[in-house]
Amino acid sequence: MSGRPVGVLVPAAGLGLRLGSGAVKALRELAGEPLLVHAVRRLRTCPSVGPIVVAAPPGEVDHVMSLLSAYGVRVVAGGGQRQDSVAAALAALEPEVDLVLVHDAARALVPVAVVESVVAALRAGAAAVVPVLPVADTVKRVDGDGVIVATVTREDLRVVQTPQGFTREVLEAAHRGGASDATDDAGLVERQGVPVQTVPGAAEAFKVTRPFDLLIAEAVLRG
Ligand code: CTP
Ligand code: MG
Repeated sequence: MSGRPVGVLVPAAGLGLRLGSGAVKALRELAGEPLLVHAVRRLRTCPSVGPIVVAAPPGEVDHVMSLLSAYGVRVVAGGGQRQDSVAAALAALEPEVDLVLVHDAARALVPVAVVESVVAALRAGAAAVVPVLPVADTVKRVDGDGVIVATVTREDLRVVQTPQGFTREVLEAAHRGGASDATDDAGLVERQGVPVQTVPGAAEAFKVTRPFDLLIAEAVLRG
């Protein structure tokens, strides 16, 4: 590990409503192990990653601690919105850590190379970094009746993944900004007027959201 220590916050407190009935999403199993265990194991193999703080569902903190006992992580109770879970984890991060990644537990199969390229961009001086992919499909805008009103030029659109990386100062300021409808941390940071740099993401860093995604994840694991 070279340079400043990098901490990772892992929001894992969501219910996974779009995944359908069953355990909360972070505890749903993939090849016999919870998504969260896959995610944390990958983070632990990243040379740059130091402290990890997991925001677990409030009723599962002890269970998650025991599941992750081999990985040297802190576990805190998450909150009602993703943003609350990230804020709870950030508050529990060792004070000396000044570069912070935020990584969705649901992106359980993120390649180490994506994590390391986010860290490299931070260490090169970026204050905020997100991994992105180009949009593969044609994108349309529709009205309230589902009728297409426009075809959106996709060349300048990107799909955003995690881990998203920030200087601690920038991430803390963004979260102090208060409640919002931002669905990612970069969204909060953008509102502070801080430029957010992009680096290439990876297909394997997709977010497990719907039942079909679990099938894809099993296939990715089978290689
Ligand atoms: N998350 C969290 N706390 C919340 C909501 C979400 O820590 N209150 C986490 C999820 O556990 C997940 C990540 O944020 O790792 C991305 O959220 P999403 O994919 O929306 O997961 P869920 O909110 O669990 O799923 P859904 O929206 O389908 O209920
Ligand atoms: Mg959600």
